[in-house]
Amino acid sequence: MADKSRITNSIKYYDQATDLIPGKTQLISRRASQFAAGVSPVYAESAKGSKFIDVDGNEYIDWVNAVSAVILGHSDNVVDTAVKQQIDKGSIYTLNSKMEVELAELLVDTIPSAEMVRYSKGGGEACSVAIRIARGVTGKDKILFSGYHGWHDWYQSANYLVDPESGEFPFAGIEPIGVPKVLAGTALPFIYGDLKNLEQLFNENKGEVAAIMMEPLRSDIPEKGYLEGVQKLAKENNAILIFDEVSCGWRTRIGGIQEFLNVTPDMSVFAKAMSNGYPMGVTVGSRDVMEPASEMFISSSYWSDNVGLAASITTINELKSRNSEDQFEDLGARMRKTIDEVISSVGIPAKSSGFHYRASLSIDLPDETLRPKINTLFIQEMAKNGIYSNMGFMPTLSHTEEDIKKTAEAMEASLKVIQKALEGDLDNLLVSDIKKEPFRRLVR
Ligand SMILES: Cc1ncc(COP(=O)(O)O)c(C=O)c1O
Repeated sequence: MADKSRITNSIKYYDQATDLIPGKTQLISRRASQFAAGVSPVYAESAKGSKFIDVDGNEYIDWVNAVSAVILGHSDNVVDTAVKQQIDKGSIYTLNSKMEVELAELLVDTIPSAEMVRYSKGGGEACSVAIRIARGVTGKDKILFSGYHGWHDWYQSANYLVDPESGEFPFAGIEPIGVPKVLAGTALPFIYGDLKNLEQLFNENKGEVAAIMMEPLRSDIPEKGYLEGVQKLAKENNAILIFDEVSCGWRTRIGGIQEFLNVTPDMSVFAKAMSNGYPMGVTVGSRDVMEPASEMFISSSYWSDNVGLAASITTINELKSRNSEDQFEDLGARMRKTIDEVISSVGIPAKSSGFHYRASLSIDLPDETLRPKINTLFIQEMAKNGIYSNMGFMPTLSHTEEDIKKTAEAMEASLKVIQKALEGDLDNLLVSDIKKEPFRRLVR
């Protein structure tokens, strides 16, 4: 049994939430079952820089950073000052804010695919705006997608195509309850990295595909020519190519992965880190694709909220002035080096992967069925040592050398426990519930 005394208050609130909030949390990734349930903290009291304090008073170095939405560091002084000053002037106006135009100019100057922009309040919403525009512009309905794109019907309807129990696309184990069945077959997943698969889907759905929606990468650089191949297929089939940069944008290049890999899609979606944790999303694209949106019904009261606009303008300018691209490259490289050093000092078969914005650890296992337990054990041991992470480490510009050192010490202790577990003591050492994986992404 887990010693739950360290997180008594977290458990109390979680029990109350079970009664009051269906699903307990607003984001699946914030459920206790996503980390080491019974050991990992579930509720935070405050956050500053690279750290947060949970509701039981424990401090953690944070490598999750609000699922990557925080990029400069929690409660960044410059962004928060800009937001507070804006709140004093009005958090929303009856009229439009001139910051809408200021931010649009900044985005057009920064993101290669941006000639025109539309705002929203989050990643999934910005994806839905992109899909509406793509369908409106092409007059076609079907979407080929690869990756995770939010909770909306257009995307979740893909789950009607597979047996939810078989662990197939894209939300294994979650049925599309409440999603209209008539949408079944309108969003079709394709396999990242496999151009033949994409070509086959175009052939099977000739003349019906409005858009390709994809995460251009998650953790590894795609094979040379892959994204160009996707772009060519989109063009040949009169489909709009949309890059979902909600997760991969900002850290590697401020202009997105499209700038880093030099492939410019017709449209792109950004959110999360663009505002250092304040609600914001944006759909950008070429003038040809975006201009017809003026005739479409795409409209919402809070898309003009001044807090998100002020936070975005300040965050993007701060990323530029703090030389973020070089800093993230350096942070990513240092984390990978650290992981490799710890692996060799412990002498455990494992490897590091990922770059710039997310170094991660993968432990070689004699039997893949052990992975959920071993990964949960790692998260459990890291939490006990004051580190909040999963198997990946998403830095912010506020992570210091000292944070990396402390993380390395915790990782060394945690991997030693895993060594013992692999020698046969796993079920005694694992005191948390097993980490569940209710969804996976369709990129490698
Ligand atoms: C690539 C990608 N697209 C869309 C989303 C959905 O964004 P949000 O949770 O802000 O709706 C996410 C969130 O994790 C994401 O990673």
